[in-house]
Amino acid sequence: MEHLFGLIGYPLSHSFSKKYFTHKFEKEGIQQARYELFELKNIEELPALFLQYPHLKGLNVTIPYKQQVMRFLDELDSSAKQVGAVNTIKFEAEGSHRTGYNTDYYGFKISLENWIGQAEAMKALVLGTGGASKAVKCALYNMDIPYQMVSRQDGEDAVSYAQLRESHSLTDFPIIINTTPLGMSPHTDTYPDLAYEQLTSQHFCYDLVYNPEQTAFMKRAAAQGAQVKNGLEMLHLQAEKSWEIWNS
Ligand SMILES: NC(=O)c1ccc[n+]([C@@H]2O[C@H](COP(=O)([O-])OP(=O)(O)OC[C@H]3O[C@@H](n4cnc5c(N)ncnc54)[C@H](OP(=O)(O)O)[C@@H]3O)[C@@H](O)[C@H]2O)c1
Repeated sequence: MEHLFGLIGYPLSHSFSKKYFTHKFEKEGIQQARYELFELKNIEELPALFLQYPHLKGLNVTIPYKQQVMRFLDELDSSAKQVGAVNTIKFEAEGSHRTGYNTDYYGFKISLENWIGQAEAMKALVLGTGGASKAVKCALYNMDIPYQMVSRQDGEDAVSYAQLRESHSLTDFPIIINTTPLGMSPHTDTYPDLAYEQLTSQHFCYDLVYNPEQTAFMKRAAAQGAQVKNGLEMLHLQAEKSWEIWNS
């Protein structure tokens, strides 16, 4: 019997996942597996999708449904509970039991560990307070890395970019993580508003953006001698983690 996997979200025209999994199935000789895009204009269409495809084995979930999808699930694993969002669903008991996971969390955490190793004594800055920042915050917390959030609007949990310039020095934050879409194609000349001249070779600047390979944020940081990394490894790790979950 064919195993069906797929992605729900809206819109899905630029999906990485279908290409990734279709290529993986071909390359690794995985037979009788198919990965499809299911564009849902409204999350209320999800129960009909479950009925239409009773043999679904796994789904990925993307914008704008990572939170809304939770009420259609029977169980959440610790990653989804902690992050407060789901990007992977595993179907068991012939589709009647659905568990939600957050593999962005695993992808980010493993890629950061691979990159900088032990980082407990380091502080991090997290730029942006959207969906991706939630998985990042959770991974930093579990790695015992204290962090400061930065947002366009200051608030209880975040300082603004202006406050960061006025009251802090980037030398206090050896890890800087961009979770905003700034720099993402086609807006490749945009970047977070930081005092880049304060960066040194002691800094690790991680951009979750993966297209282009070297973003304006990374270029500016690298010009000061900082080590830089894009979001490609995270993207691959989160996809592989979904695959591992679906097959465990
Ligand atoms: N590598 C991976 O595996 C991976 C995984 C997930 C996401 N991503 C990438 O991460 C990025 C963010 O994803 P997301 O889902 O979190 O997006 P999002 O929710 O749309 O935006 C993230 C946050 O960025 C800030 N922001 C948005 N526009 C901005 C602007 N013009 N200037 C400054 N800040 C701005 C906002 O925070 P404030 O309002 O607080 O400023 C916003 O909440 C995307 O580029 C996405 O492709 C990569």
